[in-house]
Parts: sequence; C-alpha cells; structure tokens
Amino acid sequence: MDMLMKLYTLGDVPPPVPAAMRLRKPLGPEHDGALGWVEAHFGARWRSEAGVALANRPVSMFIVQHRAELLGFACFDATARGFVGPIGVLDGVRGKGLGAALLYACLHDMRAAGYGYAVAGHVGAPGFFRRVAGAIEIPDSTPGLYGTLLR
Ligand SMILES: CC(C)(COP(=O)(O)OP(=O)(O)OC[C@H]1O[C@@H](n2cnc3c(N)ncnc32)[C@H](O)[C@@H]1OP(=O)(O)O)[C@@H](O)C(=O)NCCC(=O)NCCS
Repeated sequence: MDMLMKLYTLGDVPPPVPAAMRLRKPLGPEHDGALGWVEAHFGARWRSEAGVALANRPVSMFIVQHRAELLGFACFDATARGFVGPIGVLDGVRGKGLGAALLYACLHDMRAAGYGYAVAGHVGAPGFFRRVAGAIEIPDSTPGLYGTLLR
C-alpha cells in the first residue's frame, strides 16, 4: 500500500532531535559507511535505495547521529521521484522522535525542491506516516511500482 502526504500543509518547525544528536546529510567520506550500515540493519534493497539518494545532487538522504554512531536514516527521490523513504531508526532508539525528525527533514527538502505531495511506497508502518505527516492511503496501490521488481 502506498500513502500520499500533502507538503503544503506541513508545519514550518520540524520536530527537534535530542540536544546530543545531530540531524544532517552524510558527507562524501561517509557514504560507503552509511550504505554498509543501512544494509546491516535494514537489508540490501534499502541499501540500494540509499545509494540512489546519495548519488542525487543535492544528496537526498538524512541521518541522525549520536557522537560517531549512526542511529537512523531517511531518503527521498530514491525509489522513484516524488517518493519518500526508505526510513529506518535503530531498534533501541525508536519512540524518541527520531523517525519524525527524519521524515520532516525529507518532506521539507521536497517542498523546497518544488514538490506539492510526497508518496510513501509499500508502507510498512502506516500509523507512523499518518501520525507524523497526515498520510492517507492511495487506493489500489498494492503492489504499485513494486509489482515488477527484479529478485
Ligand atoms: C517507523 C520508524 C522509522 C519510526 O521511527 P521512531 O523514531 O520510532 O518514530 P518516532 O518516535 O519519531 O514516532 C513519531 C510518532 O509516530 C508514532 N509511531 C511510530 N512508529 C509507529 C508505528 N509503527 N505505528 C503507529 N505509530 C507509530 C509514535 O508513537 C509517535 O507518535 P506521538 O507523536 O504521538 O508520540 C521506526 O519504527 C522504524 O525504523 N521501523 C522499522 C523500519 C520501518 O518500518 N520503516 C518504515 C517503512 S515504510
């Protein structure tokens, strides 16, 4: 199931991350490490999508870090143009607002780039997108774009 989010009704103030953490885009020297981290925690397909986001200019991936440790990531224009995701936060630090901050960072960047709407594809956590960004289900969107993926 895919979900649709309005970017023009998005609040202007993104939810903050805890003071000890930083939300930003990865720098060039970090790309390989970030991709390895995505694959280790979320699998090869998400690594592939993160690779697209890191190859975009400007880069369309955000990370949250605590000291030198990566805690979460989110991408847009990775699966396809206008799509947001994949998004993932380490199991041990979920429920602290990091996912919301990462999703907002992507949606704000998309709005600044001129998009009016964002699509979350093949959504695994619909309640999260509904809660954070008012996402609504797109009718008849399963399997959507993903129906013909190579194995
Ligand atoms: C989905 C995910 C990114 C959320 O990250 P998180 O850091 O735990 O989310 P947050 O703490 O920012 O939660 C923001 C809000 O969404 C809610 N929420 C989070 N996950 C939710 C879920 N799976 N279902 C319903 N609501 C959810 C939270 O309760 C919170 O609500 P609140 O504002 O009332 O407190 C994280 O659970 C994750 O990495 N899951 C595995 C990967 C995944 O499924 N990604 C999405 C693929 S479509």
